[in-house]
Amino acid sequence: MSQTVDLVIFGGTGDLSTRKLLPALYQLHRHGLADRLQRIVATGRGEIDQETFRAEAHANLQTFLPERDWDAAVWERFRDRLHYMQIQADNDEHFTRLADLLAQHNATVKLFYLATLPSLYGDICSHLQAAGAVDHHSRVVLEKPLGHDLASCHEINRQVAAVFGEEATFRIDHYLGKETVQNLLAVRFGNPLLHPLWNNTFVDNVQITVAEEIGVEGRGSYYAKTGALRDMVQNHLLQVLSIVAMEPPTSLDPTDIRDEKVKVLRCLEPITAANAKERSVRGRYDAGAVKGEAVSGFLEEAEYKDAETTETFVALKATINNWRWAGVPFYLRTGKRLSRRYSEIVIEFKKLSFSLFANDPNELSNKLVIRLQPEETISLHTLNKKPGLTRKLRLQPVELHLTEDPQHKGVSYDAYERLLLDAINGDQTLFMRRDEVETAWRWIDSVIAAWDEAGTPIKPYNSGTMGPGAATALVAVDGRNWYE
Ligand SMILES: NC(=O)c1ccc[n+]([C@@H]2O[C@H](COP(=O)([O-])OP(=O)(O)OC[C@H]3O[C@@H](n4cnc5c(N)ncnc54)[C@H](OP(=O)(O)O)[C@@H]3O)[C@@H](O)[C@H]2O)c1
Repeated sequence: MSQTVDLVIFGGTGDLSTRKLLPALYQLHRHGLADRLQRIVATGRGEIDQETFRAEAHANLQTFLPERDWDAAVWERFRDRLHYMQIQADNDEHFTRLADLLAQHNATVKLFYLATLPSLYGDICSHLQAAGAVDHHSRVVLEKPLGHDLASCHEINRQVAAVFGEEATFRIDHYLGKETVQNLLAVRFGNPLLHPLWNNTFVDNVQITVAEEIGVEGRGSYYAKTGALRDMVQNHLLQVLSIVAMEPPTSLDPTDIRDEKVKVLRCLEPITAANAKERSVRGRYDAGAVKGEAVSGFLEEAEYKDAETTETFVALKATINNWRWAGVPFYLRTGKRLSRRYSEIVIEFKKLSFSLFANDPNELSNKLVIRLQPEETISLHTLNKKPGLTRKLRLQPVELHLTEDPQHKGVSYDAYERLLLDAINGDQTLFMRRDEVETAWRWIDSVIAAWDEAGTPIKPYNSGTMGPGAATALVAVDGRNWYE
């Protein structure tokens, strides 16, 4: 018989659980993928009775699920599995009650999802252990951010590792749950056509952009202590970079894939005070207009301590010192209040050194463009003849869409559905291993130390633009442009 699972969500009343986790779990039920999940126990600090919590969950699911996916019969089944329990991270008695509840049905796997402040993770794990709620089948899922630098990340990992082994620890980066990120593995390692080109002989540069239209919204106090580098680059951008740049793994086994990803992170050249100016740009949004609507600047809206020293935009030129990628710049940029919301990876291949055609050779490059949001697509930008009776041949760009088949269009799911399903099934492939997260922090710490030492200024940019002019210059000095 297959293993049964009880899922306990710490932070079950919070924003993440309400908007993402419970809707994703409902969808797994709707698709018949969560049959082994016996119970979902959402926890929070308040004393809320079961039926009140279920009524709130009902209303929230109707708000956050697409209308077409709502099915009263699915809800009935889902509701029966949904429980609420009051748990405060420092209350022994609450954890004893939880252990008793879990013992009643004795599911094979107890899966603990920690979606509270990460500073509580150590306490929650040690209380779970002390109450006898953890056995060798138990697993823990950790939400980001895992610390604010290497030392604090190491400390959280140490506390969690005192209770859960690495094989039972699932660190989430929801970008890894996106279909297109996994498709990147398929495109890279499944196509003999691309495989020989994936190196510094043929690739000119790689660009990774995660652009947001929104400002800091309700997260101002958290964001003012964090900034774009820690909030986005440390996790999403470096995870994507490591998948783009990794060597072919020996197999698709989680260990083999994660071994290759961490090697890439280890090869990132540290940014230093001496090169911080050529390699990095920090920005902060001023007032402006996004999609025609006037918006205020970060400093006006976030009256938080440290806001003056916080970047809401960062652009970096990263270099990977290894055999495959030496000499290929990886340009990374992310920011808030930019002109549009999108996340994209662009692999730009080297240009022809000479043009037979009416075009400037600088126009003659092929690109693989991998869009992660808002839509998930992959397209290969090639060149062919511009139709017409002109005497000299002229080339024009043509996009080959690699994800447009109707079958793919029928398959759409949120990243949290994929990741929750994998955690339920015990598959760690799309979760970050401890050494990956810590190696990423080591590089981020080098950037922060370089900024401190060099006194790297934070440059203002108008909301509704693509960041400070210096970000354009970062790429332009190398004779390149951001792909937009
Ligand atoms: N929201 C997102 O989109 C998002 C995205 C990525 C990562 N995350 C991460 O996920 C975590 C949760 O974020 P969130 O936005 O959901 O936060 P939130 O809305 O502030 O919710 C926090 C949750 O933690 C519970 N909690 C707070 N203090 C507690 C304590 N001492 N003991 C036990 N439970 C406690 C709260 O319970 P009560 O309110 O019932 O007391 C609530 O359920 C954070 O680490 C965040 O960085 C969030």
